[in-house]
Amino acid sequence: MDKLPEHLTPIIRVPARPADANPGGSIFGGWIMSYVDIAGSEPAYLRARGPVVTRAVDSFEFKKPVFIGDVISCYADIVKEGKTSVTVKVEVFAERASRGEVTVIKVTEAQLVYVAIDENRKPKPLP
Ligand SMILES: CC(C)(COP(=O)(O)OP(=O)(O)OC[C@H]1O[C@@H](n2cnc3c(N)ncnc32)[C@H](O)[C@@H]1OP(=O)(O)O)[C@@H](O)C(=O)NCCC(=O)NCCS
Repeated sequence: MDKLPEHLTPIIRVPARPADANPGGSIFGGWIMSYVDIAGSEPAYLRARGPVVTRAVDSFEFKKPVFIGDVISCYADIVKEGKTSVTVKVEVFAERASRGEVTVIKVTEAQLVYVAIDENRKPKPLP
């Protein structure tokens, strides 16, 4: 069984609902991707002390499926800083309740690059 990261606070916790599932019964990748992008932008926004945009998705792995009823938690941490960019690693864990037990499963891992922008939407050096 996987463990939730103890040194980080989840940025997003959300249950997967029937409307988020595909006909095969697991959850749409795009549903998870949108939460990953939102979660990753939070540390980038705080580091930039202002608006950031997603510039690139360096990697994105769906390691295990997510099912209806799972509660996903997105953890995000800065792994690299450039002049205007912040690279963030996002990990997603599912908590799955069954027969009186809750199992933790690492379902997704991604790395995204955010760029700080100014009022003209041009790259802006990190403070
Ligand atoms: C973000 C944006 C303003 C950057 O403009 P740009 O002309 O590409 O700027 P630059 O080439 O100077 O790159 C800015 C930074 O991004 C980094 N970068 C550019 N392309 C990259 C890539 N493919 N992968 C990783 N980092 C990249 C650069 O290394 C640079 O980082 P640094 O300043 O820390 O060294 C512009 O690309 C943009 O508006 N993109 C659309 C963003 C958006 O709408 N996102 C939402 C999803 S649709």
